Amino acid sequence: MNPSKTIIVCINHRANPDVPSCGARGGEAIAQCIESVIAAHALVVGVERFKCLGMCDLGPNIKLSPSGNFYHHVSLEGLPELVQQLSTD
Ligand code: FES
Repeated sequence: MNPSKTIIVCINHRANPDVPSCGARGGEAIAQCIESVIAAHALVVGVERFKCLGMCDLGPNIKLSPSGNFYHHVSLEGLPELVQQLSTD
């Protein structure tokens, strides 16, 4: 079944530590966690790794498509519950 929703995860990593980036704040681990939760629960939601969603100061960021809803300051804590919620909302 093709997912009708996709969780877009910013994994952009900037080399300059003075410039914020989601990748420097755990974006890769967040993407891996989301992928694991989707697989473990056979959720019908896609995941896409993306390089910069344009809200770097608020990262780590994820965005739900097609609604366009943003989630900022995402952390691993509570992420499995959020992923399950997003897949059913
Ligand atoms: S680096 Fe993640 S939104 Fe720009």
